[in-house]
Amino acid sequence: AEGDAAAGEKVFKKCKACHAVGEDAKNKVGPVLNGVVGAAAGQKEDFKYSSNLLELAEGGLTWDEETLAAYLTKPKDVIPKGKMSFAGLKKEEDIANVIAYLSGF
Ligand code: HEM
Repeated sequence: AEGDAAAGEKVFKKCKACHAVGEDAKNKVGPVLNGVVGAAAGQKEDFKYSSNLLELAEGGLTWDEETLAAYLTKPKDVIPKGKMSFAGLKKEEDIANVIAYLSGF
């Protein structure tokens, strides 16, 4: 699905308590999300990921559109013992848009 990055910036407000993006972004409760779209999971060296996320990363988990969409719909479906305490996004459109927004960083 083709997302709208400008609309995705608004969706990202739901993520901002825990995540930052951009040049001066720092890890918060969650890791910086620069470069995450298309990348292997668990790559931010200075962030302490859950062991469950790291295991799946070792098994080859990559954040492509499909896995990201699943994770953002229901984090526990993708990383059952992960530590992202987020209920998930309900609208497919919001998910496509936030992925488009994240693709710009
Ligand atoms: C992990 C995206 C909301 C906390 C991640 C990862 C992504 C992501 C892509 C994996 C990063 C990686 O592998 O390097 C998002 C988006 C959100 C959102 C797009 C909003 C739609 C939140 C919220 C919180 C949070 C609200 C805090 C309450 C975390 C934590 C991790 C994480 C702690 C690490 C998970 C682990 O180690 O198991 N998030 N997130 N996220 N996120 Fe979020």
